[in-house]
Amino acid sequence: MVITELCLELLSSRISLLFRAWEIKSRTVPSRAVLVFYQIPLTKWSEKGIILLGIGKKITSQRCKGYFEDEWGSGMDVLMEGTEIRKRYRTGEVEVEVLKGIDFQIFQGEFIVILGQSGSGKTTFLNIIGGMTQASTGELYYKGQPLHSIDEQHLTLYRRNEVGFVFQNYNLMPNLTTYENVKLAVEIALNPLSVCDVLREVGLEAWSDHFPSQLSGGQQQRVAIARAIVKNPELLLCDEPTGALDIQTGIQVLKSLQKLNHNYHKTVMIITHNAEIAKMANRVFYLKDGLLDCVKVVKNPLDPESISW
Ligand SMILES: Nc1ncnc2c1ncn2[C@@H]1O[C@H](COP(=O)(O)OP(=O)(O)OP(=O)(O)O)[C@@H](O)[C@H]1O
Ligand SMILES: [Mg+2]
Repeated sequence: MVITELCLELLSSRISLLFRAWEIKSRTVPSRAVLVFYQIPLTKWSEKGIILLGIGKKITSQRCKGYFEDEWGSGMDVLMEGTEIRKRYRTGEVEVEVLKGIDFQIFQGEFIVILGQSGSGKTTFLNIIGGMTQASTGELYYKGQPLHSIDEQHLTLYRRNEVGFVFQNYNLMPNLTTYENVKLAVEIALNPLSVCDVLREVGLEAWSDHFPSQLSGGQQQRVAIARAIVKNPELLLCDEPTGALDIQTGIQVLKSLQKLNHNYHKTVMIITHNAEIAKMANRVFYLKDGLLDCVKVVKNPLDPESISW
C-alpha cells in the first residue's frame, strides 16, 4: 500500500524533486539510512531493514532515529536540552537499560505530547525531565544550566521552582479541601499565582471546600492540575492526565492545560496512550523501546473540543 503511494508520487510531476537525498547517519549503532522527500523522511531504519513510511501526512518536520529537520524551533528559546540520555536500573544481578540514548530539545512555550507503548520509557523520561530521578549517563541542560551534574539540594530547588508535576493517581491529601490542597503548593513556591484565580481557571471555584472523597475523578484530576499550575512553573509535566477520565471531563482537563500553555506561555508535556490527544500538540515525541523513535511537528494543532476521542 505504502509502496503504491510512493510509486504514485514517483510518477507525479514532482519526480525531479522527489529524491532530494539519501542521508546516511551513523551516530549510533546500527547505522541508519533515511530517504527524504521535501524534508519528510520516507524511510526509517529498523532491525528488519529499511521501512517505507506513509507520505502525505500533516507533518512539517519529523525526526526518526537520528534524523532531524531543523524546521521547528527557529527563533524559539530552548528551555531544555538532553544528549544521549540513558537510564539503567539494576535488580539484583540484572541491569536493564530503560532509556537507551535519547537526544531531545524542548522549546519555551511548547505543547508536547509523548506517545509510546507501555514500558517504552515514557514515565522514566518525564521523571528525568522533571528532576524526579536522574539519568544514569548523558547530559541534561535546563535554560543552559546543567542538571546532570547538580547536587540533590539544587535538584530539589529545580523541582520546586520550575516544575509542576501532575501524577496519574492525583496524589491529593485526603484530609485537606480543594483550596487547601492547592494552597499547600503555594507555600513552597517562589512566585505563585492566586489560588482562587487558578481554581476558577480549572472550573473548580464552586468545589473549593470539598474534600477529595467528595469530588469526581475528573474534579480530583483538576485539583491536581491546579496544584501544579499555582506554583507558576515554567514546565508542566503530566503523566496520563486523562487516563481515567470520561470524554467530557478529559476535554475539560485538556482545556485547562491548553489555557495554561496559551495564556501563560508555559511549556506543557503530556504522556498519553490516546493518539488523538497528539492532535492538540505542537510536537509529538514517539518513544519506542527506550529510544526517541520519532519527533513530529503538528502543523495545525486542534482545540481539545475538536478532538474525536
Ligand atoms: N524503579 C525501577 N526499577 C526497575 N525497573 C524500572 C523502574 N522504573 C521503571 N522500570 C522499568 O522501565 C521500563 C519503562 O518503564 P516506564 O514506567 O518508564 O514505562 P512507560 O512507557 O511509562 O509505561 P506505561 O505506559 O505502562 O506507564 C519498564 O520496563 C519498567 O519495568
Ligand atoms: Mg508510565
